Amino acid sequence: MRWIAGIDGGGSKTAVLLRTVDGKETRTCRVGSIDPAEYGVEGYAAGLLAALTQLGVTAERVAAVCIGIPCFGPNKAAAILEGSKVFSKDLMKKYHIPTAEYAVFDDMDQALAYLKTAPIPTVVKADGLAAGKGVLIVPTLDEAKKELRDMLGGMFGNASARVVIEEYLDGIECSVFALTDGVHYQILPEAKDYKRIGEHDTGLNTGGMGSVSPVPFADEAWMRKVEDRIVRPTVEGLREEGIDYKGFIFFGLTNVGGDPMVIEYNCRMGDPETESVMLRLKSDLVDLLEGVAKGNLDEYEVETDPRSVVCVMLVSGGYPQAYVKGYPIKGIDEVTGAVVFHAGTALKEGQTVTNGGRVLAVSAYGENKEDALRKSFTEAEKIDFKDRYFRKDIGQDL
Ligand code: AMP
Ligand code: GLY
Repeated sequence: MRWIAGIDGGGSKTAVLLRTVDGKETRTCRVGSIDPAEYGVEGYAAGLLAALTQLGVTAERVAAVCIGIPCFGPNKAAAILEGSKVFSKDLMKKYHIPTAEYAVFDDMDQALAYLKTAPIPTVVKADGLAAGKGVLIVPTLDEAKKELRDMLGGMFGNASARVVIEEYLDGIECSVFALTDGVHYQILPEAKDYKRIGEHDTGLNTGGMGSVSPVPFADEAWMRKVEDRIVRPTVEGLREEGIDYKGFIFFGLTNVGGDPMVIEYNCRMGDPETESVMLRLKSDLVDLLEGVAKGNLDEYEVETDPRSVVCVMLVSGGYPQAYVKGYPIKGIDEVTGAVVFHAGTALKEGQTVTNGGRVLAVSAYGENKEDALRKSFTEAEKIDFKDRYFRKDIGQDL
């Protein structure tokens, strides 16, 4: 029997879910802390071992099972693609992958001198992982100087001991996802996400308010540029550098005058892009993951549903600032024309309640973007909880 294991988050209440591929049997448990710094397969494998043990698999079985477990996901060395902006920028430069002009500094005086010559707005990025707060688009020289002083002064500890200062790229963003076994790659459907809380991209940034796939400007010709100029050189470049990368690569791109440029890489799928991309994937995801783990991804094909999908995120009133948890959620069972993904929910005495800022994602198919948008809104309207909010303009700018 084939089991799939998923490990959530990190921290002291890490949840592990094991499910048979046919979906007939599910087991869940919680394991102790998986140190988020142990990013990569090693960290997850530690959690998986703990979970299997907790689920009653004996120590010998655990060892036996683990030898045979095909592991999916980049190891710690490969996760540097996301873990260091300096690494990723240098990789792009070396392999001629289109990205913003940049310079790297660990010295304040040199960085300040460079800033005076850099075009404004400019982008200041901490080298390492900074809980999503390490990238700042600064509109004036004074603000740029302040950010530099904070970052190089130790604002994010070692993660900002070096900074990247780069050119601001003006364009519409698009997320492209690829699977690679380190040699071969397969490109998944692209998507655009919506990060701001308010309609027409206003207000504070969030973890994502919705997504749409496909993205109209990412037509065949544009995606060919993405493959030739970005995906293939990235996979080949990583290999050249001696990195055995197995997993998803998230290419955060911007369309600059019809040409894709890389803003960032992540070592994972995106959220809330996943909630539209996965609906458009007709091939068996488990087969593809196995192809990655076993190194024969070229033997599989990615088949895509031509329909559009729009995902809308239902969030708690007040989010991304203070909000109340614990409100009962009604109407999930009435949703018939969309897939509902749970994000911030909990089960309390048999009742599903809100338990986070982003509560539920509702994704619907449509013959085109407008149709998908209409269906996801109609279905989202069936779900109710106190102070529920969602954006109604997902995909309308495209
Ligand atoms: P990153 O962590 O590098 O993805 O940056 C976070 C977000 O900042 C991106 O999703 C973009 O919206 C924005 N961003 C980063 N770099 C640039 C850039 N060079 N030009 C314009 N926007 C950028
Ligand atoms: N939606 C952007 C991300 O997952 O980073």
